[in-house]
Amino acid sequence: MVGGPQSADLAAAGKRYNPDWLYRFTLNPQDFTPHSGEFVGDATEFGVRALVGYVMTLGVPDFSYHEPWTSPEFTRADAVRGKVVYQEYCSQCHGTTGEGDGPAASGLSPQPAVHAKMAFDKLPMEYLYNVIYHGGRSVGKSPTMPYWGLTIGQQGVADVIAYLKATFKGAPEMEAATTGSGPSGVCPQPRKTKRAPGKFRNMTNPLPANATNVQAGETLFQQTAQPLACFNCHGAKGDGQGPMGAALNPPPRNFTCGEIMRDISDGQMFWIIKHGSKGTGMMAFSNMPDNQIWQLIHYIKTLVK
Ligand code: HEC
Ligand code: HEC
Repeated sequence: MVGGPQSADLAAAGKRYNPDWLYRFTLNPQDFTPHSGEFVGDATEFGVRALVGYVMTLGVPDFSYHEPWTSPEFTRADAVRGKVVYQEYCSQCHGTTGEGDGPAASGLSPQPAVHAKMAFDKLPMEYLYNVIYHGGRSVGKSPTMPYWGLTIGQQGVADVIAYLKATFKGAPEMEAATTGSGPSGVCPQPRKTKRAPGKFRNMTNPLPANATNVQAGETLFQQTAQPLACFNCHGAKGDGQGPMGAALNPPPRNFTCGEIMRDISDGQMFWIIKHGSKGTGMMAFSNMPDNQIWQLIHYIKTLVK
């Protein structure tokens, strides 16, 4: 990011530019410096916003990120308007009552989660915002979940999240463990997960199973894994009964179930965590460093009974 005779120096740009100026400049540099050689690649306005956002972090160690879910639109969020958004834009797939049975759902793989069985209040705003505003792909999930930000705007996203939180509180505890579509706590679980390619399947964990690595895995599992901490689906105890557990078909793996877990190799787990399980709610954690994946695997093994 250090410029030369032909280009601007962007090191520490965050200390020197105003983001709105930089945005307008980037959209059309010639407005500011006629005949300059600056040009902008084929980027949308949306893309330019993201790019400017990145440039503004340079040189600012304690950069405070904008959290859209604290914006004025969210202060004004309205569940009644959100219901209208849901019926108009979401019900084709997620169903009018959040049962995941909309007319467009039958052909989808993975199937949309059954919102009616999700505890939306317990899910992090950051995840809900990203999956709705930027779409499934932005959180390692399927691109068949479209991005809605450009269609319904910030206010529409705020309103529909208010509706989801006000309406869907999760499955009753008994049901979570026993229904056919979401046998999230059952042992043994039916398992149709694809086998990892040979070179992954035979990998062994390069890290020692010491307390440091197990604890690091626990922190990732329970709190910090991005885009969504594992317990949200797999449950705090690893039994598959997190706030989203009962909503998914197939259900999240029940890590407490020795009968199934015994046959799942370290390399198989590594591959699924990195790439996701296609056609299921298990997302890809493609930005996670390999050593963190191995720490998670050490932790998961402590959950097996
Ligand atoms: C074209 C079909 C389609 C439409 C329309 C749609 N979604 Fe989705 N959505 C999906 C699919 C499929 C998934 C699951 C993706 C995965 O698990 O990889 C999903 C996932 C989600 C999730 C994450 C949890 C889950 O259900 O897996 C949320 C939250 C969500 N959608 C909200 C919405 C909202 C709000 C709208 C309307 C503004 C909407 N969706 C419209 C198909 C759709
Ligand atoms: C949005 C829900 C969701 C989140 C978040 C999630 N998982 Fe999963 N996970 C699933 C589902 C659903 C399955 C079952 C997939 C299948 O049947 O193929 C699964 C399966 C797995 C498996 C079993 C693979 C196999 O071969 O049987 C492992 C290991 C796993 N997840 C690890 C993780 C880890 C580690 C995290 C956090 C970094 C995580 N998951 C986060 C939903 C989730």
